[in-house]
Amino acid sequence: MAMAIMSRITCRAAFSFNTALTRCLFNATSDGHVTERVEPPGPRVITSEVPGPKSKQLSSRLSQYQNSDAVHFFVDYEQSQGNYVVDVDGNVLLDIFTQIASLPLGYNHPSLVKAVKKTENMINLINRPALGSYPSADFVERLEATLLSVAPPGLCHVQTMGCGTCAVESGMKAVQMAYQVRDLIATWEKNGDPVAGLCIEPIQSEGGDNHASATFFQGLQDICDETGVYMIMDEVQTGGAVSGKFWAHEHFHLKHFPDVVTFSKKLLSGGFYFTEELKPKEGYRIYNTWVGDPVRLVLLEYVLKEIKEKDLAANAEIVGQQLLNGLKALQSEFPGLLKNARGLGTLCAVDAPTPEIRDDILKRLRNKGVHLGGCGASSIRLRPSLMFTSQHVAIFFDKMRSTVAEMV
Ligand SMILES: Cc1ncc(COP(=O)(O)O)c(C=O)c1O
Repeated sequence: MAMAIMSRITCRAAFSFNTALTRCLFNATSDGHVTERVEPPGPRVITSEVPGPKSKQLSSRLSQYQNSDAVHFFVDYEQSQGNYVVDVDGNVLLDIFTQIASLPLGYNHPSLVKAVKKTENMINLINRPALGSYPSADFVERLEATLLSVAPPGLCHVQTMGCGTCAVESGMKAVQMAYQVRDLIATWEKNGDPVAGLCIEPIQSEGGDNHASATFFQGLQDICDETGVYMIMDEVQTGGAVSGKFWAHEHFHLKHFPDVVTFSKKLLSGGFYFTEELKPKEGYRIYNTWVGDPVRLVLLEYVLKEIKEKDLAANAEIVGQQLLNGLKALQSEFPGLLKNARGLGTLCAVDAPTPEIRDDILKRLRNKGVHLGGCGASSIRLRPSLMFTSQHVAIFFDKMRSTVAEMV
């Protein structure tokens, strides 16, 4: 009886939820047939600048309660589609920053819309488990179908976490715990400062998109091996096929796999992969309330399917090369404004001469309908979704060229 009532409630909830979603994300033709929404043909800015008046008003309201200096603009997520973000003022921007590099398939991708409409997936949306203690029956299967199916070569253990910060901190904790077991006493005896692990990004992203050679990473691993220091590869920003390989560190041809690989952003769930040696011997050592989120794994399954079926890693390599070639051409044309074009897949960047000029370029670009991010002191950082195509590249360079041309 209880089951019957529950399933009726579930069905009714699913029905109204689905109807609302359908209305938002699909267009109905005159005969009632629903079609998937398509991307806008290009950017369109209708206010005199971005952020526009509605965004500014919301920012000042928000700033009563918290610092809102980091808010770029307020977003209309219902209207945003594919590679285009729509702000609350109705401006349509080609999004090459994608929620700080965290949207694998752009906005409202049809396969994800379909996924959340399935009743069995909605159960995960409604009930958020304390995953470390109360996982659902299908959790192991979901892990196997998602994160373990794309585990970095050689790593077959994984710990989910809620976000990238948790992933990096817990990865470091795992390293410290194993180090304590192995070497701490010996090091203390020598009165030195013990070093348990070394954490490095394949491309130092927030710090300015700084690249290092494969030889550098190989040498670093040799030092780690010689000194007994664990190597943590922080792939929070670089993982998920954007580099042209699923994991950016695969480009380095390391002698052996890193001890820990952290992930978040395009993998939707935070977490870290780790070696057998780092597996805690007791429960509750690496633990918090939610320890991740199964909903993210439900969605990740669809994301990974798209990446595989559409070979989006290859797309990132091709489109990334077009972006890098274009940036190099622009810096040759405007050497006073752009330099150091660099990239791996779509993880591309270029430097402005000063932070002020960088910020000015970003502001002017946004006012032309292209949203990009900064990093480091004066770098411009490109972080498109995996759905970025040559057509978007062409629109970007059209706007980018006219922006720097008007600043000469
Ligand atoms: C390389 C790297 N590690 C860790 C983090 C922190 O991740 P989160 O913001 O999900 O906590 C970020 C966020 O940008 C990052 O880029």
